[in-house]
Amino acid sequence: MIILGIETSCDETALALIETKGDHALGTFECRIISSLIHSQAELHSAYGGVFPMLAKREHGKNLVPLLKKLIEESKEALPTTSKKELSDTEFSATLNSFKDEFSSKDPDLFAAIQSAEFLKNIPPVGTIAVTEGPGLEPTLWVGINFARILGTLWNIPVVPINHMEGHVVASLLKSDTPHTDGKNSGTGWQTLSDLPLPSLAFLISGGHTELVKIEKVGSYEIIGETRDDAVGEAFDKAARILGLSYPGGPQISRLSAQAKEEGIVSPLKLPRPMIGSDDLQFSFSGLKTAVLYAVRDEMKRIALETQKDESEVRVSDTFKKGLAYEFEMAVADTLISKLKDAIELTSAQSVIVGGGVSANKILRDRFQELTQSYGIPLFLPSTHTAGDNALMIALAGTFHVDDFTPRALKAHGTKRLGK
Ligand code: KG4
Ligand code: ZN
Repeated sequence: MIILGIETSCDETALALIETKGDHALGTFECRIISSLIHSQAELHSAYGGVFPMLAKREHGKNLVPLLKKLIEESKEALPTTSKKELSDTEFSATLNSFKDEFSSKDPDLFAAIQSAEFLKNIPPVGTIAVTEGPGLEPTLWVGINFARILGTLWNIPVVPINHMEGHVVASLLKSDTPHTDGKNSGTGWQTLSDLPLPSLAFLISGGHTELVKIEKVGSYEIIGETRDDAVGEAFDKAARILGLSYPGGPQISRLSAQAKEEGIVSPLKLPRPMIGSDDLQFSFSGLKTAVLYAVRDEMKRIALETQKDESEVRVSDTFKKGLAYEFEMAVADTLISKLKDAIELTSAQSVIVGGGVSANKILRDRFQELTQSYGIPLFLPSTHTAGDNALMIALAGTFHVDDFTPRALKAHGTKRLGK
């Protein structure tokens, strides 16, 4: 079966096509990636220092249809040639008319794009649509869900609602994220997913989440630790903003931190390791961000005093920024590692999965590797492509839920299997 994945929970518009065969329950499941496209809006949002939801919603509405066109065009040769059905003009406009009242005012960009998308009349051999239903930004999630609803009705195929965080979990089980690129449907590129020793522990670290999740089996999750305030990626983004760096802040902090290490710059001060030793699996990152803010303010005061200038005229030096970025990254790493260690012991985890955008961080990846090695348990890390938000993970998660068909996705976007 071919599954179309749709992801619009934040500022990435993402679509993917995968093909599957076999069955998870029987241990015969295999999949291959046909194509996975991500259109990032990060640059657009960088002016706001974070994601601006209504702008993100409008962008998704504009991007989804052209991205789907590209996805289908790129995948043409790789898709099976069966079920070449075409919708007549009457069928196409009748279906769109049935959505018109609801969408023409609510999602005008998306609806207009769909109305003029002739290519949608050629029904591709897609068997199911998997769409992120949450958690995420409410307005942006709805664009994806509504797109899925319209496509599902036009092509008469089921829509499966997917929890975004489950997507991050299963993404790390892919052995390769490379689409099979011989350009033909010649049977190449099939892969099984990594065997996951259970119970497993998923550590989901992103711009919106910091969660420790106990996994008894894929599909059965228990959140055993989470953040009380800012998510870890949010802390990276906020700290970066205080240091005058652009959004998303994680890679920027990492870059400065690596330079500090290379240039032998030491941290100007020690930052707190929040909640270490709190005897639970809770996180809190807002204090760490405030500590960065105070460190920068104090340094500006010091420079102002030394140079006899007004504080508004002074800037902290690059050396100071690099040292502080390094110390920030270390404080985050120490905190995450300490909590992960406690969680491994508490759950007797036999494996660890790390997911979410922050898992792209090199220092963290190395520290996770070190820790799991010391317990002799495997670590599953996402690739660079699947660490951040993508639709490949949503399509893949869909393969575990192909029975949860349409009606839930249509209304029950409030239903959460995992996360807030
Ligand atoms: O999973 P994701 O793409 O989106 C959601 O939040 O769901 O994660 C984005 C977050 C941002 O906060 C970004 O700053 C962070 O991941 N991030 C990183 C790195 N790359 C991305 N944080 C630390 N180090 C990185 N290399
Ligand atoms: Zn995410």
